[in-house]
Amino acid sequence: MTDARPAAVVVLAAGEGTRMRSATPKVLHELAGRSMLGHVVATARALAPEHLVVVVGHAREQVAAHLAGLDAEARPVVQEPQNGTGHAVRVALDGLDHLEGTVVVLLGDAPLLTADAVRVLVAEHERAGAATTLLSSLVDDPTGYGRVLRDAEGQVLRVVEHKDATDEERAVREVATGVYAFAAGPLREALGRLSTDNAQGEEYLPDVVGLHRAAGLRLHAVTAPAAETGGVNDRVQLAAAARLLRDRLLQQHMRAGVAVVDPETTWVDADVVLAPDCTLLPGVQLHAGTTVATGAVVGPDSTLRATRVGEGARVVRSHVDGAEVGPGATVGPFTYLRPGTVLGEGAKAGAFVEVKASEVGAGSKVPHLSYVGDAVIGDRTNIGAGTIVFNYDGRQKHRTRIGSDAKVGGHNSLVAPVEVGDGAYTGAGTVVREDVPPGALAVSENTQRTIEGWVAQKRPAATPGES
Ligand code: UD1
Ligand code: CA
Repeated sequence: MTDARPAAVVVLAAGEGTRMRSATPKVLHELAGRSMLGHVVATARALAPEHLVVVVGHAREQVAAHLAGLDAEARPVVQEPQNGTGHAVRVALDGLDHLEGTVVVLLGDAPLLTADAVRVLVAEHERAGAATTLLSSLVDDPTGYGRVLRDAEGQVLRVVEHKDATDEERAVREVATGVYAFAAGPLREALGRLSTDNAQGEEYLPDVVGLHRAAGLRLHAVTAPAAETGGVNDRVQLAAAARLLRDRLLQQHMRAGVAVVDPETTWVDADVVLAPDCTLLPGVQLHAGTTVATGAVVGPDSTLRATRVGEGARVVRSHVDGAEVGPGATVGPFTYLRPGTVLGEGAKAGAFVEVKASEVGAGSKVPHLSYVGDAVIGDRTNIGAGTIVFNYDGRQKHRTRIGSDAKVGGHNSLVAPVEVGDGAYTGAGTVVREDVPPGALAVSENTQRTIEGWVAQKRPAATPGES
């Protein structure tokens, strides 16, 4: 494969995407944790073009702002009004006067295309010395796509849009994917001659194919699998594309040594890093920014976002967002870890525990039914069942410090800001409002009174054995 860099890659992203029926511009809808535009711009960037131009129009401020976050070097060009894909490319080239070489056009709503497929397109285009090389696919249901019409010798004649096609043309299952490689000069020349005399009253980019053929220029076609070229026009197609991408990403991970027990119920975003020999059990969703180290097991039924899971750690049936789970640490079942949570090596956040912006030191345990907010807990400390570390006094959040080797009794309330020293103990049910020095025991005054015979006297009907 050649490394030929295209002179320009033009990404079309100006359309409204009415078929999505959404207030969000179509190219900003996400799959695998990235916008469609994000996927396409990543593909474009991988080709290392001299110019990367993105045509924006509908909701242009929003799309351009998103683009700036994706790729600071990509240049947005405004198409107003949005008068078709051919018009869009014409507008994109307006600012590139002396462009020579290969121009690649990608669609903002075709997010599955790989850089490798486009490299093949460019290499074939340049090898053939073609004016236009189109990327086509054979599909089972070509509805909505432009059809590739060929002559008796199999040479490409032109592309006809679905809405303009006859029934006979609609029966053709070879579709134009909307992705092309063009020679800059002939492209510019043909774009100046596009008509709007068609079903949509727009300047169609695919008409360049027919114009080049009529001018006797060389045409070429490269075919790619439909799983890479599908366009997304509505939410049904978005979900289908997301499944295809999910399968592709999981296959890459499995080939790299990740155990995915049930690929059908496992979703891993594009920006997730998985080490060999980690295991994903059924029902796991790993969102952008998550990393899982070797030997760690995640699942079943867990959702992790922007979370680092250390070597040999275990996350069971939990929701984890913006946390760090140390090596050998255990989380779950039914645990909620919120941003800023750091579990040290071998630490535990057990069943029905919520932790927010807190450090739980190495070997420390919060085993059952607790809330820990804005706290720092040292090493090897145990937090008794049902303990709440309050962080909010109704006006402000405060921090709590609990030292190492401490034992906080069951059902304690720690009212921040408060400190429990190293090695200190607190009795069951203690309300800790004042600092507990290292090595001390704190107990609350909640003395139990026992009244002998109270039930027989006050609740005679309920006396055991007398019902
Ligand atoms: C287009 C192609 C069709 C191809 C299909 C592949 C045309 C006329 N048709 O049809 O041959 O089979 O893609 O998915 O090109 N856009 C602009 N400015 C515009 C109009 C569209 O930037 O004025 C952008 C859209 O944002 C979108 C892309 O171009 O990202 C394609 O437009 P869309 O309206 O979705 O075209 P299709 O009907 O899917
Ligand atoms: Ca489309």
